[in-house]
Amino acid sequence: MVVAMETLPGFRDFYPAECAVRNALFTGWRKVARRFNFLEFDCPILEPLELFTEKSGEEIREQLFAFADRGGRKVALRPETTPSLVRLIGTRAESLKKPIKWFNITENFRYERPQKGRLRSFYQFNVDIVGEGSFSAEAELIALAIESFSIFGLSRQHFYIRLSDRQIWILWLKALGIEESSTQIGLLSVLDKWERREKKDLEKDLLCYLPRAVDVRTFLTRAEKLRRSNKLQDIRRFFNALKLDGMLKAMVVERLFTWEKLLEELSALHCDSFVQIDLGIVRGLAYYTGFVFEVFEADLDGRALAGGGRYDLLFKKLTGHILPAVGFAVGDVTLVDVLQKYRLLPNIVFPLDCFVIFEDSTYKQALQDVSSLRQNGLSVMYVLGEICAISKQFKKAFEYNPNFILFYGSDELRNNQVQVKHMLTHNITLVEREKLVNFVRNYTTGSRRE
Ligand code: HAM
Repeated sequence: MVVAMETLPGFRDFYPAECAVRNALFTGWRKVARRFNFLEFDCPILEPLELFTEKSGEEIREQLFAFADRGGRKVALRPETTPSLVRLIGTRAESLKKPIKWFNITENFRYERPQKGRLRSFYQFNVDIVGEGSFSAEAELIALAIESFSIFGLSRQHFYIRLSDRQIWILWLKALGIEESSTQIGLLSVLDKWERREKKDLEKDLLCYLPRAVDVRTFLTRAEKLRRSNKLQDIRRFFNALKLDGMLKAMVVERLFTWEKLLEELSALHCDSFVQIDLGIVRGLAYYTGFVFEVFEADLDGRALAGGGRYDLLFKKLTGHILPAVGFAVGDVTLVDVLQKYRLLPNIVFPLDCFVIFEDSTYKQALQDVSSLRQNGLSVMYVLGEICAISKQFKKAFEYNPNFILFYGSDELRNNQVQVKHMLTHNITLVEREKLVNFVRNYTTGSRRE
């Protein structure tokens, strides 16, 4: 029987060149995480279903790859790693030094409609700070988010960050008398889809949550005004016009003060030119409670390159611990698209140090040296199978573009020597077998063609 030869929709095979690009992304992300002193952790790819159904929000719930395992347990492939991170930290909450700065690089699965920038299996670089309630955690993460793009050569001309605040939206809902948290979350999830929905559909969705006393058209007009506020001044003016008093007024004043502080800190960290206030960002995940942000390509309204925000209540809900947290994730799919577009994909080479060529009478000594070269960290190849003509071996060697060709001729070997051709200079040197490793290594560190 012939087996189906295609991947599932939204899944990818990674040929070596694509795998090398992916690894280059991972290496870049790990470097950035190191610069900010974040530690790497890992967690299972398969988790109890309820970890996600409880906490990730409706959109992700509908996209789960969920099934029952052979023991009848309801399980799901992870659509994201934030709930798992909460479990890991929650289990050792007391003993971990705060703030906890962790990252991971994981494959995730969401049953989305495959389209440009969105697949069903994708990788994410997740970065989180747990145990720090102040805006300086947001500032550090935004600075890190910028570096996780600039490390690949992208700059302000290529991407920017839309910074928003669910607190501001919640304060406005409170001003309208909408106090219940589940109603607030429902309304925010509708507002999150604003850019992707027709106005009449939006109204219909809002009606599922809006209290009768609030007129949907008026709600939308006012929400539009808040959404379009892209300066702190505008937001201040919007709330002043509501003529709030008491607690609510104090909360708004305090929140806007925190905004000022955050913007100041971002400016000190040289991030201000990347950041735009944009209350249109609400985020689809239900657990966000405060500042939220998304990274976008500068000249396109495409899908987000990264997204995250503060989620101060998720630890309490999942683990009982009161731990403020903020984090974000970058995806590999959109990043590769952007790097490709600007011709910034990492230059992939598969460097080969030595190609070894031998005759019938010299192959044993040659293979002994292959083994010691490899044990000393050098990459070595030779033609497998039956020993073929020297000319054929040379032809093969050229295909692999090695730094050196080592030729084991019987005449030279009688004097315990090997012909070593340095491919960049075309110099041929007779080298004693004992000195081969050092010879190649010294030469290689000085002139490696990578
Ligand atoms: P998210 O916005 O759902 O956040 O995903 C973050 C990024 O992952 C997106 O901006 C996008 O680059 C990528 N991504 C998401 N879904 C797909 C998909 N179907 N195909 C390709 N790429 C995708 C989170 O996942 C949060 N857990 C981030 C976070 C960490 N929040 C706090 N800590």
